[in-house]
Amino acid sequence: MRRPNTSPSWRLPPLLLALYIVIVINLLESPCLVHAAELPFDIDSTPIHPIHERAQVTPLAALEISTGEGLQETEGYVGDFAYFERELVGRAPEGVATLKDGEKMDMEAEPGTVSYFVLERSETGDNDEKDEANVSNEADPGHSVAENGSIDRRQEQEQTIYISVNTCRQPLPDVGFVSDLPPQLTLYVSTSPDNPKPGPDAKDDLAAQPVPLNNGSTVLNITASPTTSIYIGVEAPSLSPGWKGTFRFEVAVSTTSYYHSYRGDEPFLFMIDTDSESALFITHNITYDTSLARQWADLEPDKIPFQMYVFPENAWGAEGLRRSFCGIREAFNVNNSAIKVERSMTTRYGADLPKAQFHVQGLERNKNYTGFLLTDGTDKFPDASRAVQETLGISRGGRVWKQFQWKTKADDSCQVIYNLPFCNNIAYAVPSSPKFASNSSALAKLYDDQARSYYDNFSKSLAQIPCNTTATAQYSLARTCDDCARDYKTWLCSVLMPRCESISTPDPWLQVRNLGALAPEARIPGLNVSGEERRRWATRQSRNKLIDEEVKPGPYKELLPCEDLCFDIVRSCPAMLGFQCPAEGMRGSQYGKRAGEGEKGRLMCNFPGAVVDLNTVRGAGTRVGVGLGMIVMLMGVLVVVV
Ligand SMILES: *[C@@H]1O[C@H](CO)[C@@H](O)[C@H](O)[C@H]1NC(C)=O
Ligand SMILES: *[C@@H]1O[C@H](CO)[C@@H](O)[C@H](O)[C@H]1NC(C)=O
Ligand SMILES: *[C@@H]1O[C@H](CO)[C@@H](O)[C@H](O)[C@H]1NC(C)=O
Ligand SMILES: *[C@@H]1O[C@H](CO)[C@@H](O)[C@H](O)[C@H]1NC(C)=O
Ligand SMILES: *[C@@H]1O[C@H](CO)[C@@H](O)[C@H](O)[C@H]1NC(C)=O
Ligand SMILES: *[C@@H]1O[C@H](CO)[C@@H](O)[C@H](O)[C@H]1NC(C)=O
Ligand SMILES: *[C@@H]1O[C@H](CO)[C@@H](O)[C@H](O)[C@H]1NC(C)=O
Ligand SMILES: *[C@@H]1O[C@H](CO)[C@@H](O)[C@H](O)[C@H]1NC(C)=O
Ligand SMILES: *[C@@H]1O[C@H](CO)[C@@H](O)[C@H](O)[C@H]1NC(C)=O
Ligand SMILES: *[C@@H]1O[C@H](CO)[C@@H](O)[C@H](O)[C@H]1NC(C)=O
Ligand SMILES: *[C@@H]1O[C@H](CO)[C@@H](O)[C@H](O)[C@H]1NC(C)=O
Repeated sequence: MRRPNTSPSWRLPPLLLALYIVIVINLLESPCLVHAAELPFDIDSTPIHPIHERAQVTPLAALEISTGEGLQETEGYVGDFAYFERELVGRAPEGVATLKDGEKMDMEAEPGTVSYFVLERSETGDNDEKDEANVSNEADPGHSVAENGSIDRRQEQEQTIYISVNTCRQPLPDVGFVSDLPPQLTLYVSTSPDNPKPGPDAKDDLAAQPVPLNNGSTVLNITASPTTSIYIGVEAPSLSPGWKGTFRFEVAVSTTSYYHSYRGDEPFLFMIDTDSESALFITHNITYDTSLARQWADLEPDKIPFQMYVFPENAWGAEGLRRSFCGIREAFNVNNSAIKVERSMTTRYGADLPKAQFHVQGLERNKNYTGFLLTDGTDKFPDASRAVQETLGISRGGRVWKQFQWKTKADDSCQVIYNLPFCNNIAYAVPSSPKFASNSSALAKLYDDQARSYYDNFSKSLAQIPCNTTATAQYSLARTCDDCARDYKTWLCSVLMPRCESISTPDPWLQVRNLGALAPEARIPGLNVSGEERRRWATRQSRNKLIDEEVKPGPYKELLPCEDLCFDIVRSCPAMLGFQCPAEGMRGSQYGKRAGEGEKGRLMCNFPGAVVDLNTVRGAGTRVGVGLGMIVMLMGVLVVVV
């Protein structure tokens, strides 16, 4: 806004002067207050359905197992175990399925039955470990034994055995209104040939206490000598009347690491923003290795080994299967009609490092959702990415990360845009209207073209300043015109594209905008829309005329840009350009302040790259991830003093 002021001498050429006036008038005019922040998040979760990718189906089809007494092998199935001596395979007791080290087996089971498995290990050879020998860094006991030629010695050496089970499908209620979930499977493990079928009726010589699955998943490790066979029983519980269907699960035993993996302390995702029907998320940096970064950044969407699954709260969804890779995926696939997740790789949001990006669409307004990130098993990773797998601790069967919740915005006035060609750091909800509801690229283009046009004019002005002369003639030794141009662009994009919140969001640091779009008698619960509020410059309209004239949103709230965006541009640009931040009192109405000590982690003003840390969301406000590398952030209302 133009302010009468005793400012430094104004000696710009008329063209520049005109440019600044335009900027000031169009963009900065509003003396306002802003508040920011936002979505109430909750912690409880509840799942829903959806996503793509088919679950892998393995020997299940060939097994024809079912009640209690388990499977019959078929010839096709035996083929998988070619490296076993035939008589070893034959040794498995009847009704016991033979597992292969480090591979999962799918199984279907009727309620009230126990399915049996064995990992057979021979007394004469180490053939069951051969394939895995290269996977582990640990000395292979089998080999040292062979070299020493001492069988006794080999038998003394204990080995860790990793066992994991994931439930892929559970019975469903037959009648409406069931408030509880079906009971979980239970895992029994024995290493005693005297108890080759461990289960609720055969608890002698168990190698560990029976473990019920938690939310469709469990892992268990035991130690055993390399010649000891591992016997496993998985009990499918009996169900009370009112349930129908069978259980389906995966079981895997490995001598190197758990096949299935779950991490309950880290969602590995940040939320960028949400609107009334969509939400945008990114993962952490997938790799810091610059030689791998390009390969990851260029991955085709269907090759990205990360996928997000989303369920509405209070839907049946993945309830009871929240820690199971195949369970979440199948639950989503069952009813994937409405929710779509579009994924891509991006190097935005800091440091030019690759991140996976998920745009979730088809959501309903003002509704709580539960999300899960799943990482595929290691064989889906791009070549040469072993270091990435190891850093993330991903195993063959993939990983389920901690679930998280968020709530969509309550009205249609905000819409998420991202991947803008010019303002490439912009990714959040901006003011919108139903006419752009299914066409966010048209909305993005409208804003982006406007920013580019302002920037072009600015570049012309900047070009008249001696940036590229010798050091002595430069306007500053510390800052160049490139710094100025970059800071200006960041500021410009942030100011032209206000970060939008629902009008009903209560956070006091948000600035009400566009009350002029409200019918004269209309009221907004919790908001004072007196005649004065409707007339005030700041609350009557938007900062950017384009919004009111072409986008035509309803009333909304704006998360003000952070004041440091303004300070940066003043610091970086030649004084001749006359940029100046508003004085303290006035500034508070145009720029926001970053969260102070007491509010650490809250998003109280907007800056490029601001994200919501899903790990610290605690019901109340939105939190910002700390340590997210953001390029430079400037935002501010620059006031040109005339
Ligand atoms: C969404 O979650 C919040 C916080 O847990 C809760 O207060 C609210 O009632 C939930 N909304 C719905 C529609 O379930
Ligand atoms: C083990 O590693 C060596 C060298 O890295 C390789 O030549 C060999 O094929 C690997 N063996 C198996 C069974 O993977
Ligand atoms: C044989 O075992 C001894 C210890 O009993 C060990 O010192 C030696 O290195 C082993 N030999 C080989 C070839 O592994
Ligand atoms: C699922 O996990 C939640 C939270 O971790 C826990 O409270 C609940 O008991 C678990 N449910 C089942 C069926 O394991
Ligand atoms: C084996 O299980 C125990 C108890 O559950 C656990 O403390 C330990 O960390 C596990 N070991 C490995 C290598 O996972
Ligand atoms: C899937 O959707 C169909 C129709 O939309 C519905 O009849 C069915 O109950 C849903 N199934 C589940 C498991 O939610
Ligand atoms: C989106 O809007 C643009 C520009 O108005 C138009 O060219 C394009 O066809 C629209 N796309 C869809 C899917 O409606
Ligand atoms: C850029 O400058 C031209 C010529 O001075 C002017 O016509 C145009 O409106 C300016 N664009 C903006 C966005 O100010
Ligand atoms: C300064 O000069 C260099 C090399 O001549 C050129 O690449 C750069 O774009 C110039 N910068 C500006 C701001 O003109
Ligand atoms: C609403 O604003 C008007 C004018 O500013 C003021 O007189 C009135 O007290 C306010 N009402 C409330 C409930 O804040
Ligand atoms: C990505 O890497 C940059 C540069 O090291 C770092 O500043 C930033 O915090 C990382 N982002 C995430 C989400 O881990």
